[in-house]
Amino acid sequence: MSARILQGSAFRDAIYAELRGEIDALRAAGITPGLAAVLVGENPASKIYVRNKIAACEQLGIFSAPFAPPASTTTDELLSLVAELNRRDDIDGILVQLPLPPQVDSKRVLESVSPEKDVDGFHPVSLGRLVSGRAGLVACTPAGCMEILRRSGIRAEGANAVVLGRSDIVGKPMALLLMHANATVTICHSKTRNLPEIVERADIVVAAMGRPWMVQPEWIGAGATVIDVGTNQITDAAEAERLFARYPERLEAFKKKGSALVGDVHPGAAEVAGALTPVPGGVGLLTIAMLMSNTVKAARLRRGRAAGTPAAAGVARS
Ligand code: GUN
Repeated sequence: MSARILQGSAFRDAIYAELRGEIDALRAAGITPGLAAVLVGENPASKIYVRNKIAACEQLGIFSAPFAPPASTTTDELLSLVAELNRRDDIDGILVQLPLPPQVDSKRVLESVSPEKDVDGFHPVSLGRLVSGRAGLVACTPAGCMEILRRSGIRAEGANAVVLGRSDIVGKPMALLLMHANATVTICHSKTRNLPEIVERADIVVAAMGRPWMVQPEWIGAGATVIDVGTNQITDAAEAERLFARYPERLEAFKKKGSALVGDVHPGAAEVAGALTPVPGGVGLLTIAMLMSNTVKAARLRRGRAAGTPAAAGVARS
């Protein structure tokens, strides 16, 4: 058997088509959704992520305001910048790209973002709303995983779902979303015993530990859905030789480029799973799509009421 490959591009395109309609309606009411993107320092991966997020804004007609403070920026300087962005009426969403440099108190900075503009869903108020099942802005990657399941017709209700990883950004919100969708959820982490046995019982596996190809094909139950959140950048030649020993094309591509992006799930899982998201080209595309969706939603909720857009009529999507 070979798994159905859940390509992120198809879901992203469908979400963008829906967002275009919402953005047109907002613009007709004089509102252009706006996203501020704060990129501190020179982290190469962060630069690529932020560039892709700004490109998505441009594609959709969302106003974007990039800010690039130097790596030496202090917590106070970032707090001032966020305070200014909180005040600006043309900014609906504030994205502070992580990781921040070590001298910065990341938690304080994230907590200073107005919850109304918390399009990353990282603020404790957003997390609290999610815990208690209230409407709010949900972290983009887990929200994207739920969109993949929903749009693929894969039912979470009653399913045994196993989440690998317990980060604040992915694992924890993912487990909550699956629980709210009536799945029976198990959260695994680095201290979990008998990991393969737990994964084997899962109907839905969400792998988000950040360990290249750690989830082995033998761990996957026949026909399970596997959502691979891993975005591991391989730059070490010895690691590439080891990982790609049986994948000569991938090894060649690595040698040409000097790096390779791999997920947390070994690609051999495609022979066992019922459905599988690829890396690259899977969940990552949805993360950006959900950031766009959260920005439009934040604009509608914060500014739409006054302008008489659908939010005013009480039909806002949660
Ligand atoms: N760093 C890695 N992933 C993310 C994300 O989704 N949002 C932000 N702000 N930073 C990140």
